[in-house]
Amino acid sequence: MGEGGIGIIVVVQPYFDLNEPECRLYHADTLTADCVEPNSVDLIITSPPYNVEVVYGTHQDDLSYAEYLDFCEAWLRRCYEWLRPDGRFCLNIPLDKNKGGQQSVGADVTTLAKRVGFQYHSSIVWNEGNISRRTAWGSWLSASAPYVIAPVELIVVLYKNDWKKRSGSGVSDITAEEFMEWTNGLWTFNGESRKRVGHPAPFPLELPKRCIKLFSYVGDLVLDPFAGSGTTLLAAVIHGRRAIGIEIEPRYCELTRQRVEAYLYSRQMALEIHEEPAVYEAT
Ligand SMILES: C[S@@+](CC[C@H](N)C(=O)[O-])C[C@H]1O[C@@H](n2cnc3c(N)ncnc32)[C@H](O)[C@@H]1O
Repeated sequence: MGEGGIGIIVVVQPYFDLNEPECRLYHADTLTADCVEPNSVDLIITSPPYNVEVVYGTHQDDLSYAEYLDFCEAWLRRCYEWLRPDGRFCLNIPLDKNKGGQQSVGADVTTLAKRVGFQYHSSIVWNEGNISRRTAWGSWLSASAPYVIAPVELIVVLYKNDWKKRSGSGVSDITAEEFMEWTNGLWTFNGESRKRVGHPAPFPLELPKRCIKLFSYVGDLVLDPFAGSGTTLLAAVIHGRRAIGIEIEPRYCELTRQRVEAYLYSRQMALEIHEEPAVYEAT
């Protein structure tokens, strides 16, 4: 894409649009969709396609590395445009890639993000307890060509202009224990099961939950431009933030709708069960 940016911008209608809580999903292409106000988003949390030949449906996950970096630059530019001046960006990317040649994906995408204009804050290392990336040893017990792979991913923490947050409600909902644990940049929790969620590469709810509680205020606007099964939207709804998602594959849009609706239904049921005695007392 280079310095030129996006050519065509397409106006799109929401796939669903809830008012209470505010949660909106677009079935659209993040590269071209006109669905987010510039300078409006408090926190972006996303895991883009990793270009490791995952079968998503619409998106082709087997680009050349040069094409992949062009794609990354294009969506990073959109994210930059959408973020508020004091907005933050939690970018979940792999440390490196070993399929089809070794690549320093984490370093390369972080460098691109800085070229686009983002400021670098820090990197969190996510130690995925239940994921084994070990596919080969290389030269077993020999220095000729051994294989090294770290079973971790990165959450690169970036921001637009100011790290100090001045906008929003000012209300934080993080506990002292969570704050102490999560400001240590080594996070250990399991990855999500593809089968359980019904998506080929979901992240666990724990990931957006931590980012949301650590980096945003209650009521803030959270965006996931690669919404997938809607995990970020779900975490935002659970924790009282407003949410926007963009997803190019229709069946994942439907999955997101179902996950958000199922949560809201169970919350409503819990409320009604809890409220029942009060109703009886009043009559
Ligand atoms: C790694 S997955 C995100 C998974 C998500 N974090 C979750 O928990 O389910 C990346 C998603 O980006 C979507 N995608 C790929 N290219 C896209 C584009 N240009 N615009 C919008 N979504 C896209 C894919 O269909 C896929 O669902």
